[in-house]
Formats: sequence, structure tokens, C-alpha cells
Amino acid sequence: MIGIFDSGVGGLTVLKALREVLPTADVLYFGDTKNAPYGSRSRDDLTSLTVAALKLLQERGAQNIVSACNSVSASLAVSLLDAFSIAPQQLIEMVGPTVSYFKGSSARLMLYATPATINSDIYQNAFQMIGKNIKAIAIPELAGAIESGKSEINIEEIIRKAFPQTPQDIDVLILACTHYPLVLPVFRKVLGENILIFDPAVAVAERAKKQFWPQEVGDGTTRFLLSKDSENFRTLVIRLFPEMKFELEVLEFEPER
Ligand code: DGL
Repeated sequence: MIGIFDSGVGGLTVLKALREVLPTADVLYFGDTKNAPYGSRSRDDLTSLTVAALKLLQERGAQNIVSACNSVSASLAVSLLDAFSIAPQQLIEMVGPTVSYFKGSSARLMLYATPATINSDIYQNAFQMIGKNIKAIAIPELAGAIESGKSEINIEEIIRKAFPQTPQDIDVLILACTHYPLVLPVFRKVLGENILIFDPAVAVAERAKKQFWPQEVGDGTTRFLLSKDSENFRTLVIRLFPEMKFELEVLEFEPER
């Protein structure tokens, strides 16, 4: 079984891409809706939340993990995984597959993400290692607005604020927060047609197929665990997966801090 986790609805964009390539995998999805959004939290806080999420998914039987949250990527240290007996082959996070996707490309890149992701410098450093300089910019309020199901006008206002002018000398915009592709048409509206918009979920799903198949061939079941019930979460699941049967459980989630 594959365990996916995110602060809330963002990981659904990764689940969507994953379902395209691994339709019969059994998936256990944890959305920490009680503690969302994650993007303005401290590194210590994010590490405690990550530890608790990994524990939960392991206890519930997930052998392979997809961290569908860029904001916690910097917390996924090798030592932590070792302590949980998670081998590198059993974990996929967002940064590695995204950066690898652009290896050898001459495209000029710009990346938008939460403050936690941008302040960790994790993307900037990883791109640097493959010889690429990127522009990396934080949009503080956007993930929270998407998580709580704010109106499109509201979302557009936040995105316009992040792009006071149409960016010049850029070929590709990377949406390095898994919440952002849920409002991709609004990014497109604000940016126009000349800049390519990249959703890393595609690269992450491809990596999952490479690493987890054929080990992860099951009945295609999907179970959601939420730390707080959320109408917006339920609505988005039905919108994104209209045919899918699923179970949803709301549970107590108390990370040690
Ligand atoms: N979707 C997550 C990410 O990719 C978290 C966003 C948030 O909760 O602020 O960073």
C-alpha cells in the first residue's frame, strides 16, 4: 500500500497523477487538515508533523510513501528516514523528481512555492547542483486560500499580487506547492499563454511507477484519513475523482512537539 501525505487538499493533485500510472495500487492518503496550511510553519514544527504523519501511515500499513508536500521536503532527512526504517527506495518526495525532470534542459525557470519551501532553499540548492539558477518566489497566502476553498476572485487577487508584472526572460513556471495546480487556470489567466506552467505531480507519479511497480499492484482501493473533517476536501475528491469509490475517516492526530 502507498501512503501519501500532505497538509490537506494539495496532495490530491499528486494522487490524480499517480492514479494515471498506478491505477491498481492501494492508496492511503493522510491530509492534516487540522494543522493546514503548513507553508508558514517553522522547520521544527514541520519536522514534528512529518514524523507523526510517517508514523501514522506506517502504523496503518503503508510500505511505500509519497510525501506530496513540498513544505516538508527539507524535514525528510536521511537520518529521520533511517530511524523509521524507511529505505530510500520506499520514499518519494517532490524535489528530487522535479529537479531531475529539468536536467539537461536549457529552459529558464521560475518557481513559486510556500514560504517554508522557499526559505529552506531546498529547490534553489538542488537546481544549483545541476547547474541551473532559478528565480524562487514565495506566495504566502495562496495554499491556505485554496485549502479553505476561497472564491476564484480571491485566488486571482492573491496570484496577481505575486506577479505585479508578467515575468520576463522566463520559459517555465514550476508550481512547487501541490495546492497550486488546483487553481492552474487562474495562473494561466494571470500569466497569459507564453509561459509554460509545470505541475511536478507528473514527474513524481512517473518516479512512483518506476520505484513502486510491480510491487504496488493491489485492488486500487483509496482510503482518506483527515485530522479534521473538511467540506472542501470532500468536494474536491468528488470533483477530481468522480468515478472513484473511497472511504474517509476523521481521526485524532496529536504530534509530539
Ligand atoms: N501542499 C503543500 C506544499 O506542497 C503544503 C501547502 C501548505 O499547507 O501551506 O507545500
